[in-house]
Amino acid sequence: MTKYDQVKKDLLEKPKTWLVTGVAGFIGSNLLEHLLKLNQTVVGLDNFATGHQHNLDEVQGEVSQEQWSRFNFIEGDIRNAGICKKAVSGVDYVLHQAALGSVPRSINDPATTNDVNISGFLNVLVAARDEQVKSFTYAASSSTYGDHPALPKVEENIGNPLSPYAVTKYVNELYADVFARTYNFNIIGLRYFNVFGKRQDPNGAYAAVIPKWTADMINNEEVFINGDGETSRDFCFIENTVQMNILAATANDESKNNVFNVAVGDRTTLNKLYDSIQDSLNANNVNCDSKPTNREFRAGDVRHSQADISKAKTLLGYEPEFRIQEGIDKAMPWYIEFLNKQS
Ligand SMILES: NC(=O)c1ccc[n+]([C@@H]2O[C@H](COP(=O)([O-])OP(=O)(O)OC[C@H]3O[C@@H](n4cnc5c(N)ncnc54)[C@H](O)[C@@H]3O)[C@@H](O)[C@H]2O)c1
Repeated sequence: MTKYDQVKKDLLEKPKTWLVTGVAGFIGSNLLEHLLKLNQTVVGLDNFATGHQHNLDEVQGEVSQEQWSRFNFIEGDIRNAGICKKAVSGVDYVLHQAALGSVPRSINDPATTNDVNISGFLNVLVAARDEQVKSFTYAASSSTYGDHPALPKVEENIGNPLSPYAVTKYVNELYADVFARTYNFNIIGLRYFNVFGKRQDPNGAYAAVIPKWTADMINNEEVFINGDGETSRDFCFIENTVQMNILAATANDESKNNVFNVAVGDRTTLNKLYDSIQDSLNANNVNCDSKPTNREFRAGDVRHSQADISKAKTLLGYEPEFRIQEGIDKAMPWYIEFLNKQS
């Protein structure tokens, strides 16, 4: 039995109460779905800045009525300390996902990204500390590696941030470390590396590359590659990310006050990614033989990214279950259905 299987078995036997901030977003709604399926009680907090009611409705359709009755949704903003205090009441584990993602968004509007990602983060952290929750797990980011050239990325070696977004995520890590040491508080940061899967928003100016390209290919629109296409990323399927959150939240005390890479340990170029999405669409009978258009590199982007995941494997028992192509193939039917409904 894997560590993850053991933890899930324990949670089913002794259910806990979780707070998921950003619950109407991509990662938050997938965490919600998994936790409810494990018969956990979940409080969700979101202000719908980038999340959607339809994500919550979809989760409702995926779980039993009884499981759904264990979900308590609070519509509110993490910039409001009173709301955060209400949300953590009676909670065992916090999974803090709410933030404004996207490097370009932060370049266009650094002040709002700062307010949500730093002041909002601090509100949730303070509320969780005051409530003496069992653990606080938060969404950190691979952007914290910044301009450090080494590959693969090892948690201890980071460079200078390349965007306001990266600064906010690094400040989260600094606060987390200080809170762990000052208040003896159980905290784990998860440096996500390009997470993808169902419910990741394909719409809007700040859509991530996989949902954006998938939507453009399905809608027969031009697909743009920023740069020469040899930029590479360690794409991580959502199920691996959910696993890491559950392992981190329930980890023993020795694993706490740490940051962990959340990835697969692979490196895929954008050119290869384009072919993978196209192949998967064709396998799902969506004919697509277009060629991408290259344009300028995007400001703030790192050139290559690949994680060393040995720390998560050793300390948390993490075993990623899906590599990129398996994840794309699993997500594709959802995108086809979702985009068909939209058109
Ligand atoms: N998706 C990735 O590849 C990736 C990579 C690195 C880090 N992250 C981090 O993971 C977390 C989740 O990202 P996601 O991809 O699910 O994005 P998302 O935009 O789908 O989800 C974020 C959620 O937070 C909510 N939110 C934003 N501001 C809020 C506020 N002020 N108060 C309450 N709720 C608020 C949004 O409405 C949304 O539902 C974020 O912290 C993000 O920075 C994601």
